[in-house]
Amino acid sequence: MDINKKLINLAIEARKKAYTPYSKFNVGACLLCKNGEIYTGCNIENASLTPTVCAERTAIFKAISEGNKDFKKIVVVGGKNEKLNDFCAPCGVCRQVISEFVNDNFEIILAINENNYKVYNFRRDIFPLGFTKDDLD
Ligand code: THU
Repeated sequence: MDINKKLINLAIEARKKAYTPYSKFNVGACLLCKNGEIYTGCNIENASLTPTVCAERTAIFKAISEGNKDFKKIVVVGGKNEKLNDFCAPCGVCRQVISEFVNDNFEIILAINENNYKVYNFRRDIFPLGFTKDDLD
């Protein structure tokens, strides 16, 4: 199967595990590492609200904590309740976290299903002019 379709279907599966008693907005992510490893994530909310973590960061932190930090692309799917009929773009915090680990070729795929998705270049289309570790030198 085409790799993008595979990642999209894994993100849709991961989304089913979202813990969202407050927003009911369910997000799934699927991260492909350069070595072929794949990590999925869902959003996990909290009664205290601010500890909530997005699906993208769940996937990225899973990968980092398993020793993988070279990433190729990430798929994001999201929508209210069971619905999945619009594209869900990553929040600003997730953009900053993604930015920490990716190079100029990293892709982000916003998907509704395996036949309906958009591919973006992360640095060019999603997060230009970000603050990075280079700025600290
Ligand atoms: N959310 C994500 O998981 N990823 C995004 O890119 C956008 C927002 C989650 C956070 C919260 O649980 C819910 O969606 C509503 O904001």
